[in-house]
Formats: sequence, C-alpha cells, structure tokens
Amino acid sequence: MCGIVGAIAQRDVSQILVEGLKRLEYRGYDSAGVAIYKDNAIHRIRRLGKVAELDEALQQNPLPGGLGIAHTRWATHGEPSERNAHPHMSQDNIALVHNGIIENHDELRDELKAKGYVFTSDTDTEVMAHLLHEELKTNSNLHHALFAATKKLDGAYGTVAIDTNQPDKMVVARSGSPLVIGKGIGEYFIASDQLALLPVTREFIYLEENEVAEVRRDGVTIWDEHGNTVTREFEVSDIQHDAVDKGQYRHFMLKEIHEQPSVVSDALEGRIVNHKIFVETLGQNANKVFEKVEALQLIACGTSYNAALVAKYWVEEFLKIPCLVEIASEYRYRHTAVLPNSLFITISQSGETADTLAALKKAKTEGYLASLTVCNSPASSMVRESDFTLITRAGTEIGVASTKAFTAQLVSLMLLMVSIGKAKGMDEQTEKDIAIALEHLPYEIQAALEQAKEIDELSKEFAEKHHTLFLGRGSQYPIAMEAALKLKEISYIHAEAYAAGELKHGPLALIDSDMPVVVVAPKDNLLEKLKSNIEEVRSRSGQLFVFADESAKIQETDGITVFPVKSEYSITAPMVYTIPMQLLSYYVALIKGTDVDQPRNLAKSVTVE
Ligand code: G6P
Repeated sequence: MCGIVGAIAQRDVSQILVEGLKRLEYRGYDSAGVAIYKDNAIHRIRRLGKVAELDEALQQNPLPGGLGIAHTRWATHGEPSERNAHPHMSQDNIALVHNGIIENHDELRDELKAKGYVFTSDTDTEVMAHLLHEELKTNSNLHHALFAATKKLDGAYGTVAIDTNQPDKMVVARSGSPLVIGKGIGEYFIASDQLALLPVTREFIYLEENEVAEVRRDGVTIWDEHGNTVTREFEVSDIQHDAVDKGQYRHFMLKEIHEQPSVVSDALEGRIVNHKIFVETLGQNANKVFEKVEALQLIACGTSYNAALVAKYWVEEFLKIPCLVEIASEYRYRHTAVLPNSLFITISQSGETADTLAALKKAKTEGYLASLTVCNSPASSMVRESDFTLITRAGTEIGVASTKAFTAQLVSLMLLMVSIGKAKGMDEQTEKDIAIALEHLPYEIQAALEQAKEIDELSKEFAEKHHTLFLGRGSQYPIAMEAALKLKEISYIHAEAYAAGELKHGPLALIDSDMPVVVVAPKDNLLEKLKSNIEEVRSRSGQLFVFADESAKIQETDGITVFPVKSEYSITAPMVYTIPMQLLSYYVALIKGTDVDQPRNLAKSVTVE
C-alpha cells in the first residue's frame, strides 16, 4: 500500500528512485512523484497514473541529484490526482513521503492553518510536512524535529523527509508501516520493501516500531522511541534479484500461477522424510505449547482468509478440536471470548496487513496460549510480533491477486495442522497418508497447469457475463470463495460463492440462462449431494461449468460443460482445484483487457485500515 524510495549518494539517484518505484508499483499505482535536491533547492515532479508517466516526465526534464525521495500512491485521503501525489512539501524547504494514515489530521490541519500554513492537497500527509516544518523552528536538527512531530501523530506512518537546509541527510520514522534501510558504498537507501533496492544493494536493516533514523552518505544512526541510540547490524538478503522479472510470461500473475509446483516443493523441502512430517523451524518450545492446545483461532484478510477457512475443515477433521476463523477487521473491534488453551494464528502473505497486525496485537492481551503466524515475509511485522512463525516460502509475489502465496499457505497450514496433531498424538497412518498426498501435490498441480489452453478456451463463455456464481461443498467451499474473489479482483465481474447446500435458500432465485454457475466437484463424500445441487441449477436453465474428477461421472449435456480435473487425494484436492480457478479468472481478465497484475482500486499489501 503505497511505495517509498529514498537515496543519498555521490552519484545521481534519480534513476535509482524511479527503478525502485517501478519495483514497488504493485503496492500502489494511482500516482507517483519524486523530490530531488539539486542546486540548493528541492525540485519536485509528480504525475497522475503509473510510474511510467513519472519516468517519461523525468526523461523530458532530467533532475540529476545526489539526494532524493520518491513515492507511488494508493489513495486513502484525497482522490488520485497530481496535487494529492507525494512528495508533499512545506515552504519549499521540506519534502516528505508517507505510507499509512494519520487519524488526527483534521485537528492538526486546523492548528497548522491557524499558524499560517497553506494547504495545497487533500491528504493527511501534507499535515506531516507542515508539522515537521513547524517543529524545525524549535528543534533545528532534522531528526529531532521529526521525532517531536511524530509524537503529535495518531495513526500509522512510514515516512522519509529531506530539508534543503540539511542536505547531507534523509530522516525516516516508522510506526505501523515498514521501512528498510539499504547500504551501498558511500551511499544509503531507504524503501518500504527491500525489493525496491535490490539493483543497488543486498545489505539491509529493518527499522523497528517507533524508531527514527538519520540516513547519511557515511552512515546511519537509529534512535528508539525514548531517544536512545540503537545498534543494529546490516544483514545480507537472499531474495533473488530477478524476483521482479516476468521472464517469458505476459503477466506476473501468470508467472506466479505457473510457479506453483516448485513453490509447493519448496514449502515441503526438508519437511517430509520417509512419509513423516517435521516442521522444526516454528520457534523454541512450539511442541510444548502444541501439546496443550485445545482450540485454534485463525485470523486473516482476503485470500489468506480463504486459506484459513480451508484449514478449519482439516483441523476439525484430523485434530478434532474447535477451529474458529474470522476476518481480521471484524475481530479487532469486537468483544471476543477466548476458548481455553487456544492458539492464536494469523495468516498473511505480506505480514504487514494493518487489520491482521492489529488483531494480533489485541490477541496478545486476551489470554491465548501463544501466537503463531503463517507468513510469506520473514522480516515482516507479524513475524516479529508472533511467538512462533511458519514461513510459507512462496517467494516474492508481485501480482496483486494472490495465487502462489495462497497454495503455499494451504500447504503450510496442512504442515502446521500435522505438527500440532503429532504433539497431541496423531496416529502414524494419518501422518503418512497426509505426507503421501503432499508429496504428490507438485505433480498434480503441474498436470492441472497443463490444461491452461482448454481453460483459455472456456474463459470465452464468461467474458461477456456480468455475474458468476461459484459453488462448492466441504473444504472446496472456501476454494469456490477464492475463485469468486479472483474473478472479481481481476476481471471486475461480479462473482459470489455459495456453499452448494445453501443454494435453495436464496441464490437459486438468480439462476437463469444468463448466469454461469461454476461448480467445484472433486470425488469425495459430498459428491452425490453436489450432483443434486447441479440438477437444481440445470432444471432452472442455469449454465453450468463443472470442474470434476473423471470418476465423478457427471454427464456433459445441454447446459452442463464438464471440465476434468485429476486429483487423487481428497485432502490435497483444494490445492489442485485452485489451479483451474486461477487460470479461469486470468484468461477471462485477458479477454476483458483489464490490468491483470495491478487491478483497479486494489493494492498488494494493505498497511492502512
Ligand atoms: C490485499 C491483497 C490480497 C490479500 C490481502 C491480505 O487485499 O490484494 O491479495 O489476500 O490483502 O493480505 P496478506 O498480505 O495479509 O495476506
């Protein structure tokens, strides 16, 4: 959600800033801007639209300079427009970029207006620029002034500022929105995600909550919230440079869909030996806590929430303990009752989603046994805030609509479920059955991917429709939900998912010959029930697309198109059926000509409420 890049160097940093923004564009993409210090002044260029527009403007009017900050925006306060784009300035000498939301911006704006500040945007961020300017009147040192300014802010921020009067530094502050400092030779960088800086450095320090830092050409100084200096070493990142390269694929989403066999293999690597499952890296004494666990509370948003819903079916079937699942934005503001000996689990690709993080912080005061996060980002806030961690190993996901991160979450949740089960005495045969199914999963996913051409063909049936209904039962119901979410996100077709048994309680009224109904129908104990639901739709002239196992023996006839999916093991079937659903939404979006990797109004990592 919004991307920040900053650089201080002997060389020209303008292209480093723009390249960094391009790498962060998946986080926010409605407008972008840079502010560069040159000839004793700050020069600013901002553009509505994607970073390419800003790049073009800089090609026409180059702004070489050794100090600069840049931002790609996802609007929260104020519509997407050039005047609302960051950086925001105060009195020509302060420029500032910000991720997050300042909740008391109205009252601060009134105070600053009374002091004579003139506002030129509708953003909460401009308040911060003027506030910093105001603080500089009494705290001449930039980091002191930023420190004082942040004390007056309610809300979340990751922010970087520069000052024409102190052009040998950038100052940065973090509260609720991640920032990473990168080290070069005689040059330093700042970004909201290390991906932005991979072309220039591999050495990083993450800023912790409520810290302020001064970043110079010759070094970095960090202070904690009490003003004490913090000593922290730079660490070398092992993220691949080409993580943000589409390779042979037309879109990141397609690349990421096709990466799933290897993502699943990576998630399993070293964790299955002789059909036994070992997850050793959860954290100290995890097993001791698992022995005591009598209930799970799973919390997540978006696609991660759908993964949590699948896990509920597994946990209650195999562990026979209650598994509650809730959307983070609901949980965080609700009066909650905690079941005895509950483990609190967050699921998040980014590890930075504001609602999930807030739910985790709330849970820590509520008497859970412990907190655990299933997360794809090892250096994220959720990992740092949780007692235990299971890293999903999906690699960097760029497409805003999550695909490979979802499958990796499902695999990780299954491994976690078995780990808890083993601590509580799961029998060896169950563990073995699950291990075998997981070992075959990369091959089953590969086979599903090989049907991409046929799904491309099938997608034509959906592209002209305005609505689609997805149906599933059991652990495939959340897969239907995830399929509906994918279609909505990238093709902008209204889609809903229903538990097939619920059809007769309302959605059947929607069925006519113009309503495509997608059914996820693996061979399991609910297949016969599902066949009845299919008949209910068919007899009302609904247009059915059934993704089914060959052995399901669902006849293709008028109004029913059957698409074969091979999935040998019912426990891992949710992961296998996910693949054709992802491909379907991708190909429908292709026909519709939407921006597949960066769908309108969405962002990859939602670090604001
Ligand atoms: C955003 C993304 C979704 C993602 C959700 C939760 O809405 O667009 O793809 O599922 O956030 O993100 P998380 O990083 O917590 O999994």
